[in-house]
Amino acid sequence: MTNTQALPTTALGPDGTRVGVQGYGAMGISEFYGDSDLAESRATLERALELGVTLFDTADVYGAGHNEEFLRDFVRANRENIVLATKFGIVRKAEDPAYRGTDNSPEYIRSAVDASLRRLGIDVIDLYYMHRKQPGVPVEDTAGVLGELVAAGKVKQIGLSEVTGAELRAAHAVHPIAAVQSEWSLFSRDVENTVVPAAADLGITFVPYSPLGRGFLTGAAPIGELPEGDIRRTMPRFTGDNADRNAALLAPLRAIAEARGLTPAQVALAWVHARSAVHGLPVVPIPGTRSRTRVAENIAAATVELTADELATLEPIAGQVAGNRYADMNFTAVGRE
Ligand SMILES: NC(=O)c1ccc[n+]([C@@H]2O[C@H](COP(=O)([O-])OP(=O)(O)OC[C@H]3O[C@@H](n4cnc5c(N)ncnc54)[C@H](OP(=O)(O)O)[C@@H]3O)[C@@H](O)[C@H]2O)c1
Repeated sequence: MTNTQALPTTALGPDGTRVGVQGYGAMGISEFYGDSDLAESRATLERALELGVTLFDTADVYGAGHNEEFLRDFVRANRENIVLATKFGIVRKAEDPAYRGTDNSPEYIRSAVDASLRRLGIDVIDLYYMHRKQPGVPVEDTAGVLGELVAAGKVKQIGLSEVTGAELRAAHAVHPIAAVQSEWSLFSRDVENTVVPAAADLGITFVPYSPLGRGFLTGAAPIGELPEGDIRRTMPRFTGDNADRNAALLAPLRAIAEARGLTPAQVALAWVHARSAVHGLPVVPIPGTRSRTRVAENIAAATVELTADELATLEPIAGQVAGNRYADMNFTAVGRE
């Protein structure tokens, strides 16, 4: 199925910004999912924009700055039509690629925003997220520092990633939060416990990351075929027995796809879009791909409506998924709820 309908738009935050109901996640261009063809990746960004995507998502940590630098020319060439989101707060060590830490200190945030602006070659970031909460740093303090960046004109709106409902409410009381970005897909529904209801209550847009379950929901390459260094080789649900058990859960997705003339990826994305009506909030998933064909396929899914029966068939999947989202769940909001 190709794109036959214009991509609808929805609200992103209280300042009147509108975005296409599906965004684009650029992370995989720089690392985690194997080598990228950068010319095709750039063409994929252009295709996404042509087809109505306006929210483009990156982070300072993706490729240790490479992802922001890669987006620079594209963003500058299309500045008026792009809502650029980036993130701070995950820190790495050059000498230890596997290391992940967090830093939400005011000094760190102030230097991180300047570094992102410099790499992106722009004057203002449209949406600036706290990527991860640092243990022991109140989210209200972080919202306060982010509010100062808005006042200074470096950032238009602010967002949070991997927070609980209580944290979202606390931060929002200090400075309006435009968007919360956390993992949400047919395979990952823990956000529905507290943060989705809080976002719906407060009128905050939800930006589901990894809406294709990091590619698993597309039915593409099994784990054994993934290249060395692919991050999914370290993730519990894609490894060992879990990978086979989880692959078996895709049967209803494949059946709906076949009956409707869609791909499994499109059914998985249509399910995420259907969350908007179910939970009563704007939902803007940001699937990532480095292929023009796939980006068109994914965007076409934004206007696919699944029937109540189809949604009911897909309902039990998440409850049966084997394995955690990450090897280290301390790095997520799960456990703080
Ligand atoms: N806030 C956070 O902590 C956080 C964490 C993870 C991700 N994110 C954001 O969310 C974005 C999306 O998440 P993600 O990239 O992890 O996962 P995803 O969008 O669920 O899946 C991406 C994977 O699916 C493949 N794919 C995409 N469309 C496909 C299609 N139609 N058919 C077959 N395969 C397809 C991609 O491969 P190809 O590229 O080869 O097509 C890639 O391997 C990221 O880019 C990033 O911006 C945020």
